[in-house]
Amino acid sequence: MTADHPQVRLQCCSKYCNTAILRTVFPSRRAACPRLPLSRSRCDNARMTGLSVALANLKPGTGKTTSAVWLAHTFAHAGNRVLLVDADPSGSALEWSDLAAMYPGLPPETAFPFRIVALPSREMHRRIPEIAHDDDVVIIDAPQMEDHAAIALSALRYADEILIPCAPSPIEINRTTPVREEIDEVEALRDAPARSAILLNRCVARANSTGDAREALQGLGYDVLETAVPRLEVYAQSFGMPIPDAGREVWRRVARDLIERCAPLCSVRS
Ligand SMILES: Nc1ncnc2c1ncn2[C@@H]1O[C@H](COP(=O)(O)OP(=O)(O)O)[C@@H](O)[C@H]1O
Ligand SMILES: [Mg+2]
Repeated sequence: MTADHPQVRLQCCSKYCNTAILRTVFPSRRAACPRLPLSRSRCDNARMTGLSVALANLKPGTGKTTSAVWLAHTFAHAGNRVLLVDADPSGSALEWSDLAAMYPGLPPETAFPFRIVALPSREMHRRIPEIAHDDDVVIIDAPQMEDHAAIALSALRYADEILIPCAPSPIEINRTTPVREEIDEVEALRDAPARSAILLNRCVARANSTGDAREALQGLGYDVLETAVPRLEVYAQSFGMPIPDAGREVWRRVARDLIERCAPLCSVRS
């Protein structure tokens, strides 16, 4: 890991533990810690997922897969163990990794330097903990809710952070409402409240629409990540390819935004 990369900083959740730890425990999980079974409540944070993020939206084409894959790369590049869960039955993220692994001149394992599993299951919230116990960061590419509600709900049920990618346009802003309603509905099924935020993406550089959308969304009561992802060819053309260096900085900032939302237990290492 290098100095300029975000690092998921880990901290022990147990007051009885003196071990210096560099893994994250999220506030929600810390709150749940006293209720954890004995095997998980001991100081063994390497077995606890630090950060789980679900990319969710009502519709396809809003940038869920692109965001999930770039974010997974960003966290992996920063030295975290990452699990990318492709929860969309269309399997786009998995297909992306398969294609990237065939990229000429690159060892297949370096194209996607993290684990990726297909798990388009309505029981995902129960299954991920069985799979992800060694991972620092879990990113879920959830399917569009309008077609796969039960799977998407399972992702909302599991993730610490629900990220809603949204273009700065009235139609996409309107369509966030059903997502928020689902998040509210699933709250009762969760151990701890979810955080959720809008990720403004496909933003046109220097257009007023980004600021206007931020204002409108905040007026509707949403958290909006500080970093807005621009609409760029490097992202539009990235499907099926290894992630290039160009375009990574924006995702580092998104990762930092996410880490900062974990405060006080999570910090960016510099
Ligand atoms: N920031 C961006 N800039 C340009 N194109 C983008 C960006 N994010 C996503 N896209 C493009 O938008 C389309 C839909 O993105 P995708 O991630 O497949 O959406 P979803 O997973 O929600 O269906 C794809 O063609 C993708 O390349
Ligand atoms: Mg997708």
